[in-house]
Amino acid sequence: MSDIKKKLEQASDLPPPPARPANDHIAAAPRISVQAFCEIEETAAAVRSAGEDRRLAKAHLSVKMGGMAAAVEAYHNAPTPNVILLESGGRSDLVALLDELSSVCDPGTRVIVVGNEADDVPYRELVRRGVNDYVVGPVGVIDIVRSICSLFSASETVTTGRVIAVVGAKGGVGASTIAHNVAWAIARNLMLDSVVIDLDLAFGTASLDYNQDPLQGIANAVFQPDRPDSALIDRLLSKCTDRLSLLAAPATLERVYDFGVNAFDAIFDTLRMTTPCIVLDVPHQWTGWTRRALEGADDILIVAEPDLANLRNAKNILATLKAARPNDHVPLFCLNQVGMPRRPEIDRGSFAKTLESQPVAAIPFDSKLFGTAANNGQMIAEISANHRTSRMFLEVARKLTGHGDVKKPKGLLSPIKRLIVGG
Ligand SMILES: Nc1ncnc2c1ncn2[C@@H]1O[C@H](COP(=O)(O)OP(=O)(O)OP(=O)(O)O)[C@@H](O)[C@H]1O
Ligand SMILES: [Mg+2]
Repeated sequence: MSDIKKKLEQASDLPPPPARPANDHIAAAPRISVQAFCEIEETAAAVRSAGEDRRLAKAHLSVKMGGMAAAVEAYHNAPTPNVILLESGGRSDLVALLDELSSVCDPGTRVIVVGNEADDVPYRELVRRGVNDYVVGPVGVIDIVRSICSLFSASETVTTGRVIAVVGAKGGVGASTIAHNVAWAIARNLMLDSVVIDLDLAFGTASLDYNQDPLQGIANAVFQPDRPDSALIDRLLSKCTDRLSLLAAPATLERVYDFGVNAFDAIFDTLRMTTPCIVLDVPHQWTGWTRRALEGADDILIVAEPDLANLRNAKNILATLKAARPNDHVPLFCLNQVGMPRRPEIDRGSFAKTLESQPVAAIPFDSKLFGTAANNGQMIAEISANHRTSRMFLEVARKLTGHGDVKKPKGLLSPIKRLIVGG
């Protein structure tokens, strides 16, 4: 084992991260103002940390002490914000204070109460007084994030799509191939309407892989001066299957593709309003905008080949993203091109140890299968739906979207066994 590999592994003798809860998708909140009135410092600290979370990046959040009494006093003379968060502190006059607050609250202001086990007011009494959400303390950062965001994601007119970013730990590892196949499985098998955005504007292959004539796609959206609206994005999408569309890369070299950090924000936000699942094919670059695309995604998949440079890079990407997203799921990773003939490889166990989690898949190297798919503009599942690799893509799709584990295909005998044992 090389010294570097040993060092990479030694730095990671930590317990594995907790398992991801299924379907725990918290959509980002819009540009809102939130004012919190806390009773204890622990709650105030949790609310302040929540203000740092990516999903509240657009919100303006302020924290004061003094609880409900301070809130009532403050709003006698000041307009109320979009959201007021109140810590009850187990007060016996909770209902009276809420009544007083409602007399000074602007219509449209939403109220979250951080309660206490000592509270003995029935939930429906709180709802009757205009409380939109009640969270029992002690609260963690993520409880606050979830409570605030859920006030705005419940609207029926707006879909709040989840963004899945796929990136390679090195160039050429197969990140785009995996992004396209996984997105195809999300649309086809999990039946979520999905859009793939090819962010490799100069060299992207999504239009080839999906056998689409290159359209203007993402370049038109990102280079136009006005904020893109849903109608514009709709015109730029090419339809790949019933539920899958593509915002293709131009893959032309007349211009260069240097972007500001926020260049894609408006495009992602607009798509999120209409599309349940957005898969970003992020090129292997470390720039302001690629970093932002990764940090802002709901879920991340890092694709690595089983060698040392991939291991080091994957570890660095993971560490950076974990630090930037302390309240999020840890990014997932998968191995690709495993078992390439005559190539020495770092085994799955060493990857798992260094990256402190298991890969969501270890996809075998298969030049015939992948080469045929790439040259025909087909997905692997279109060549062979029951191929082990197709099933792996479906499993990755399920893990990324929180749709549970793939059921093991039943053996030949299982229908008979079921009859016999009545299972
Ligand atoms: N498991 C595999 N077995 C064999 N070939 C594969 C496998 N996965 C991907 N490939 C092939 O590897 C090549 C590179 O794949 P792809 O373009 O998806 O990589 P990438 O990481 O997105 O590269 P880039 O850094 O250029 O964006 C393609 O020709 C693809 O067909
Ligand atoms: Mg690529």
